[in-house]
Amino acid sequence: PDFAGLVIAMDGPAGSGKSTVAKRVSDTLGLDYLDTGSMYRAATVRLQELGIDLHNSDACTAAVGKMRFAPAHDPYSGQILVDGKDVQSLIRTEEVSAVVSFVATNLAIRKIMVAAQQQIISDSVSQGRGIVAEGRDITTVVAPEAPVRVVVTASPETRLARRAGELGTSAQAESVRDAVLRRDRDDATVAQFEEPAEGVVLLDTTDLSIEEATAEIVKLAIVAKNDQ
Ligand code: DC
Repeated sequence: PDFAGLVIAMDGPAGSGKSTVAKRVSDTLGLDYLDTGSMYRAATVRLQELGIDLHNSDACTAAVGKMRFAPAHDPYSGQILVDGKDVQSLIRTEEVSAVVSFVATNLAIRKIMVAAQQQIISDSVSQGRGIVAEGRDITTVVAPEAPVRVVVTASPETRLARRAGELGTSAQAESVRDAVLRRDRDDATVAQFEEPAEGVVLLDTTDLSIEEATAEIVKLAIVAKNDQ
């Protein structure tokens, strides 16, 4: 089938396999890809560049309201422009990971980001492509009407092990363990992403390979396309 126009919404915590699987699904089905977490990270980097105190939520909100975000559509590009500047190489640092929740838990900023993300999704669809969007509030707030909505989970042990694998040495992994758990807890205060909302499919990847998890979502996409 032709997947043009399809929207696939995916949520889940760090280490669930969500991002890896979302990219594979995008590549397999020929859909655009949107990593909404990269937008929160890019906003954080830009606020720091502008010298704005992350504790000053009003100043942060005003500044984010003026920012322009252009994340790449390609799942494997990783590029994201904020106000025309590529911040790709700056957004995945531990420093940003440690403070991004200040931005992501600001409800006024979330409104701005949700609107920007909805615009990216509707542009993709209206231009005849379709998109896989991933984050924490995609199935519930950004794209609650998406024909395919999935919450990706994995056991806490698996999630931490995967994050550790991404990070390299075990010393680094140890130092990051608490930070990952703390960030999930902070994030969970503003977006409920560990339990699927009504009508959202739960995909537990604890015992699934990347290929198997991707195949599950491709199946859901085929069903959604046949229903249209
Ligand atoms: O997925 P990530 O680690 O790149 O996300 C970065 C931060 O943004 C993290 O604190 C969760 C938050 N986030 C969010 O609150 N809502 C989203 N839709 C995506 C990410």
